[in-house]
Amino acid sequence: MSSHLDHIYPVFDKMLPREAKEELLGQKGRVIWMYGLSGSGKSTLANLLERHLHAEGRLVKVLDGDNIRSGLNQNLGFSDEDRLENIRRVAEVAKLFAETGAIVIASFITPNNELRKLAREIIGDEDLLEVYVKASFEACAERDPKGLYAKVKAGEVKQFTGKDSGFEEPDRADLIIDTEAHSEEESLKILIEAASTT
Ligand code: ADX
Repeated sequence: MSSHLDHIYPVFDKMLPREAKEELLGQKGRVIWMYGLSGSGKSTLANLLERHLHAEGRLVKVLDGDNIRSGLNQNLGFSDEDRLENIRRVAEVAKLFAETGAIVIASFITPNNELRKLAREIIGDEDLLEVYVKASFEACAERDPKGLYAKVKAGEVKQFTGKDSGFEEPDRADLIIDTEAHSEEESLKILIEAASTT
């Protein structure tokens, strides 16, 4: 079967290798992918980790659901199909940054194992740390940092994750941080430890 990809000629071997950039930066490019319900603490932890690593002299880029969805992915909604395309694009972008030597912290709900697998396949096992930021729907609704759960309750938000759109517990994760059991400070400590030893 012919496809438009038959007429695309990607050339990777003539490009300056990734290692040259990693040497310039004095670090290895990688992706720390944080997933969990809206309000679980992903973005808070992502931003704190970024500041911590930056202070240590690392080049870091945070990719965050709400931000990316207001730019690159503004044409995507919350259907299963759009969530897949959201994660596919973000994983490709994360890979580009990692290949440039940056440490990427991706913060997306990534609600099911199929999407997590897709991200893993695009980024590659060796460059990826998968972190499940765990908190129950009830705890997230209680925190409600954006006032979104109140809107959900009032019936104003459709296809909401954990309500009328599913959230699957992970079948694998390199790290699980339970933000109901740990304070923000403790959670960050756990994350920093894992990020520096794995
Ligand atoms: S994902 O499911 O495709 O991974 P993503 O992380 O990009 O989601 O975006 C989630 C953010 O979009 C939430 O933190 C929330 O602020 C906002 N949002 C708006 N509508 C919804 C919805 N229906 N379900 C989940 N999050 C939503």
